[in-house]
Amino acid sequence: MIRHTLSALLLSAAALGALAAPAMADDAVARGKYLVTVISCGDCHTPGHLLGKPDMARMLGGSEVGFEIPGLGVFHGPNLTPDKDTGLGNWTEDQIVTAIRTGKRPDGRMLAPVMPWMSFASLSDDDAHAIARYLKSLPPVPNKVPGPFSAAEKPTAFVLRVAAPQ
Ligand code: HEC
Repeated sequence: MIRHTLSALLLSAAALGALAAPAMADDAVARGKYLVTVISCGDCHTPGHLLGKPDMARMLGGSEVGFEIPGLGVFHGPNLTPDKDTGLGNWTEDQIVTAIRTGKRPDGRMLAPVMPWMSFASLSDDDAHAIARYLKSLPPVPNKVPGPFSAAEKPTAFVLRVAAPQ
């Protein structure tokens, strides 16, 4: 009898554990969605946003408007969806966290400072991973952004430029 009660208890503990794991993953995705929304990553990473008409069907699918950094070049907010060819589909969660907090891409290139990674360096481990997990949960959007362009190259798409006083 005691043995039966014990195994029933163990079984229900296992069942609870099985329930808790996906629930925790869902919590992280929800937290990531919240952070991405309030930090407004879409301003620079969602098509149309900088043209006044964000295309929410392709949310975080990459911007057609590049930021010109004088002397450095023109940089478009890339596709953050898990599309394998044009987005972050081949990046691990850790690689995404590293890029967000240190500006370092898996190929070693440092991201231009218009991507606010110096501020994002203060994100906690939990929050940075929640953001990466949320990005990985998005529907993949096939969209390769132009560039990056060096200061010597001619950009092929819209450019957000700082104009000197006339
Ligand atoms: C002010 C504009 C801006 C904001 C806000 C912004 N980003 Fe970026 N981000 C960029 C630009 C521009 C690049 C590309 C820089 C480069 O190529 O050197 C970039 C690059 C990245 C990359 C590297 C992707 C790749 O393919 O190289 C990741 C990951 C990323 N951003 C995630 C985020 C997340 C997550 C947020 C919000 C928490 C965010 N960004 C907010 C502008 C922004």
